[in-house]
Amino acid sequence: MVLNSGDAPTRETDSDPATMARGFNHLDPAVAETAYETLGTIRRGCPVARSGELDGFVLVTGYDEIREAAQAPDRFSAYVDGLGAAAVVTEMREAVAPMFETDDEHHHQWRRALMDFFTPAAAAAQEQYVRAICRETLQELIPRGAADLVSGYTQQVPPLVIGRVLGLSELERAWLSEHVRALYGAETVSEAQQIGRVYADFLLGQIRERRAYPGDDLLSRMVTAEVDGRITGEDELIKMTMLMVAAGHLTTADACATAILQLLDDPALRERVTGNAGPVEAFVEELVRYEPAVAATGRTATVDTQLGGMPLSPGDRLLLAWGSANRDERRFDDGEVFRLDRERSRTPHLGWGAGEHRCLGRHLARVELRVMLEELLRALPDFRLQPDATVRRTFGIIRGVAALPVRWSRR
Ligand code: HEM
Repeated sequence: MVLNSGDAPTRETDSDPATMARGFNHLDPAVAETAYETLGTIRRGCPVARSGELDGFVLVTGYDEIREAAQAPDRFSAYVDGLGAAAVVTEMREAVAPMFETDDEHHHQWRRALMDFFTPAAAAAQEQYVRAICRETLQELIPRGAADLVSGYTQQVPPLVIGRVLGLSELERAWLSEHVRALYGAETVSEAQQIGRVYADFLLGQIRERRAYPGDDLLSRMVTAEVDGRITGEDELIKMTMLMVAAGHLTTADACATAILQLLDDPALRERVTGNAGPVEAFVEELVRYEPAVAATGRTATVDTQLGGMPLSPGDRLLLAWGSANRDERRFDDGEVFRLDRERSRTPHLGWGAGEHRCLGRHLARVELRVMLEELLRALPDFRLQPDATVRRTFGIIRGVAALPVRWSRR
């Protein structure tokens, strides 16, 4: 399943910003390694530009322009065909996912209905569980002395956490975890479709069970919520649940992998962050600014309008490159530099999005990332890259790292 680029070597790019934008395709494997150099050149030349790739879309790279689009649901809908976050569930393309792909009052009602499960207190209530599964996963790794930390660690913890929030039993969480890893790791469309069907059947079973016997969990709330005076249909709920799992799992797994890479690249940073709760929190927040895991999501223009001086018509698809906004020199000093002690400016970073669809799970993500990093640094204090390792970045809807082959002293 193609969510990201990242499987091919980089290529030379044309240095004219408009030409670069014209050929920009966030899903092209060649984009990954130099994504932010390319986006920086495009942004400085034309923060709103047209790409001719993927049947044509408008590439938005400037901070002000991205924020404006995200904060104007009366002009730009969160529903976008084939370009945005919903592309992670391609097998459910025909249904519209409530909340993720809806706007205005319908969207507000959904946010209100689910909010209880995403407050800072609800996130804090997951901390003990997150810590326990991190420890369990790391205990199994320690004696091995070497592993890929992406498949062996960062992709192991988040699916269990979102499974628990949804209300799955321990066995069901393990099933979910295994199947979502297989789904997003699938190498062919037919393999992804096959796993996608089994996964959709599993979710349908869960949805029907919650309809009959609702509990005090996120999935029960999704299944029983009355929005616009009606209970949501099964197809929409399946897509919504798939997106909820992807939002909770792919993002956090990739953010954690990027964080580990940042620590491997910068020993002084690693020393400051190790064993110190304050800096881990600051580290996570700067990481989400500098390398947001949600790299780019979409919007669709619904009226004749303009953005950054570009005239737009209803149906024009936009790609909002959140990470590019966070490096915009018009808003951030040294935006291209990772700074642990970066002062919180009056300009909030857009790594969690902006406007009405701003990340609902950000408190949970912060807890997960902090605990995953704390436990990793405690359990494998001297982990280092394998001498012959080549680390490949990914870029696309989600930004991450393909694999992190590391080793450590066995205990
Ligand atoms: C580092 C981790 C994460 C990052 C960087 C991140 C980022 C984002 C961004 C940028 C958006 C807005 C997308 C848009 O407007 O098009 C978003 C939406 C969302 N995120 Fe996250 N996210 C993360 C983790 C999580 C987690 C753990 C959950 C838990 C389920 C979650 C749940 C959601 C939901 C439900 C939405 C849609 C909200 C809506 O449509 O109103 N996210 N996220």
